[in-house]
Amino acid sequence: MKKQQVGDSVTILVDEKNITVPAGVSVAAAVLGHIHPGETYSHPVDGSPRAPYCLMGVCFECMMEINGEPNVQSCLVTVQEGMVVRRQLESAEAK
Ligand code: FES
Repeated sequence: MKKQQVGDSVTILVDEKNITVPAGVSVAAAVLGHIHPGETYSHPVDGSPRAPYCLMGVCFECMMEINGEPNVQSCLVTVQEGMVVRRQLESAEAK
């Protein structure tokens, strides 16, 4: 495996869309950088608005499905090439 260096980028799949982000950032930061202004995440249970807040593993507002594992604190996971991420929006979308 090639060691990542400053200036490298990786491509990850977020909600069926490929995005290219700087290597070494967290999944939460990568996703935040690619959502539209005013767009938020929604809570998977009640659909209430939420978004990554602390970015250091305290608030649990950044839970995403990463490579098939649900409810992962995405601020604590570093992006990897080919990673598959879902923001777990199903409950809110079903309303
Ligand atoms: S943003 Fe707070 S735990 Fe991830």
